[in-house]
This record gives sequence, C-alpha cells and structure tokens, in this order.
Amino acid sequence: MQSDYEQKIKELEKVNRILTKKLERSEILRVALEENNERKEAIFLQVIHELRESQKILQGQSQDLEQALKKLQAMQSKLVESEKMSALGILVAGIAHEINNPVNFIYGNISYAARYAHDILDILQCYQNLYPNPEPSIAAKIKAIDLDFVKKDFIELLDSMEYGTQRISEIVRSLRIFAHLDEAEIKKVDIHEGIDSTLMLLRNRLESCPPLPAIQVIKEYSNIPFVECYAGKLNQVLINIIINAIDAIEQKLEIIAKEADNSNFIPTIKISTELLDDEIIIRIIDNGTGMKPEITQQIFNPFFTTKPVGKGKGLGLSISYQIIVESHQGQLECNSIPGVGTEFVIMIPRQRVFEE
Ligand SMILES: Nc1ncnc2c1ncn2[C@@H]1O[C@H](COP(=O)(O)OP(=O)(O)OP(=O)(O)O)[C@@H](O)[C@H]1O
Ligand SMILES: [Mg+2]
Repeated sequence: MQSDYEQKIKELEKVNRILTKKLERSEILRVALEENNERKEAIFLQVIHELRESQKILQGQSQDLEQALKKLQAMQSKLVESEKMSALGILVAGIAHEINNPVNFIYGNISYAARYAHDILDILQCYQNLYPNPEPSIAAKIKAIDLDFVKKDFIELLDSMEYGTQRISEIVRSLRIFAHLDEAEIKKVDIHEGIDSTLMLLRNRLESCPPLPAIQVIKEYSNIPFVECYAGKLNQVLINIIINAIDAIEQKLEIIAKEADNSNFIPTIKISTELLDDEIIIRIIDNGTGMKPEITQQIFNPFFTTKPVGKGKGLGLSISYQIIVESHQGQLECNSIPGVGTEFVIMIPRQRVFEE
C-alpha cells in the first residue's frame, strides 16, 4: 500500500516536472513573441516617422518650387514691362525727334512773321495818317473787315502762336530728355533737368482741371553735382513715383469731397535734392492719402496694387526698386503716415561702377 502511494507520488512529481518544463518553454516562447512584436512595432513606427519626414521634405520642395515659379513670373513680367518701356522710349524719342525740326522751323520763323506784321501795320498807319479820308470803296472795305479789330487781333494771334510753338518745343525737349535715348546709357546727368522734364510731361495732371484744383509743386533743389546714372531709367522711376503721388492726392480730394470737408487742403508735392556723403538724395513728398503700415510693407512687391482694375498694374514701384537698388546700387525707401502723406527717398551713389 505504502509503495503504491510512493509510486503515485513519483508519477505525480514526474507529471509536475513535465508540466513545469512545458510552462517554462511556453514562457520563453511568449517572451520571444512579445520581443518580436515590439521589434515589429518599432520598425512600423520608424517607417511612419520616415514617411512623415519625407512628406515634409516634399512639401518644402514644392513650396520652394512654387516660390521659384512666382519669382520667374515676376521676373518675366518685369522684363516684359521694361522691354515695353524701352520700346515706348524709342518710339517717343523718334516722334520727338521728328517733331523737333518742323516745330523749330515754325518757332524760328514766327518772330520774323511778327516783325513783318508790325512793319506792315506801321506802313498802314502811315497811309491812314496821310489819307484820313480814303475813297468810298476803300472806306467800305475797311468797315467790312473791321480793320481796327484785325490790326489788334493780328498781333495777339501771332503772340499766341509764338507761345503755342514755344510750348510744343518745350514738350518735345522734355520728351527727348525723358527718353534719353539719343545718348549713351550711363552718363553724367543733371538730375534737376530730369525732374523738370518729368514734371513738364505730367503738366496736364498737375494743372487745375475743374472740379480738381491744381497741385502745387514745391521744388527745393540743392546745388548738387551731375550724377552718373542710367538717365532714361532714372526718369522712369521719377515718373512712377510722381504719378503715384498725384493718384494719392486725387484720392484724398475725392475723400474730402465726399465728407464735405471744407478744410483748406492745398494739394502739394514737394521735391527736394541734396548731396550727403557722396550720395545724391531725392525726396518726393506728397500730402495725399498716405498708407497704413501693412500696405507700405508690400508696395515694392510685383503686382501689389490697391488701385481699381485697369488703373494700376502694381508694377511701377517694383520696377523702380529694381532700377534704384539693382541697376544703381542705391536705396529706395518709403515713409508714410495714413491720412497725412507719403515720402519716397531715392538714394544713389554719385559715382560708381555700374552693373550691366
Ligand atoms: N504716394 C503714395 N501714396 C499712397 N499710396 C501709394 C503711393 N505710392 C504707392 N502707393 C501704393 O502702392 C501701391 C503700389 O504702387 P505701384 O506704383 O507699384 O503700382 P500701381 O500704382 O498700383 O500700378 P502701376 O504703377 O503699375 O500703374 C499702389 O497701388 C498704392 O496703393
Ligand atoms: Mg504706380
């Protein structure tokens, strides 16, 4: 009986050992499986991480590409615009050149015509003094043409013709200075002559045109030396900035008219020049609408405009910036106070080696 028990216990112990061994083996298997799972999970996470990274890189690259495309488009439009401007410049200079000769011809002869007219009228006066009572047919003719009026009007007419042709020759001269195509690209120029010719070309927008009042232009020119520059391009900058100033003033006049504001607003553009540490500084100040800082920040960006479609392309200032900063190694700055006005400061070195 005793041995029977012992036998059973031994058997049980054996089964227990076998079971323990099996348990140990399955524990090892479980741990191995878990490790395997963890490894797989880590690999999975790594793959996801790498995917995210490459997605980010791709996004960055497509942003770079988009920016490069935008830059290219802007460059292209600037090129087209400056091409157009130079083509226009050639056309303007050509026309100005063609008009110059006949106008000078008229202008040169008109003073002779006036002198001859005076002489003939003097002689007529002599005749009238000698024969105060002409024969009836002549007296009738004198009455018919109203000789006294003709004598007076003839001289006035010649004066106004002289004034007219003088203005045409001034405009033609301004056009030629403005286009500057009859001269080498880089040359020493009189900045004041450039400003004056630009103002002359914009005269119709500066003069009073009811209901708009005239814009007064205050010039404060210093005694500055001639400046080495691309004269035609510099004039393009001046015209862009002055047109913007006129637009801003006209916009302010509209606001004043709407508000029925009777304040004594005098539309003014002030242009000053000075030489400071071998740099020429041109300031163009208007008392137009002014700009909020968030607008001022963007004005040199190509295609940025606040003007209605068809009025502004948003290229004037970006082209001007390129001309001053890139072609002349200068600076172009803008200071503006909303409701008060705007100042543009052009700074160009008096002498330098220019880039092509
Ligand atoms: N003197 C100024 N006063 C107020 N705002 C100005 C002035 N000059 C420029 N701006 C602002 O800057 C913007 C950009 O000027 P920019 O000359 O580049 O383009 P534009 O005048 O709108 O069009 P474009 O010159 O191509 O005909 C203008 O639309 C305007 O909002
Ligand atoms: Mg403009």
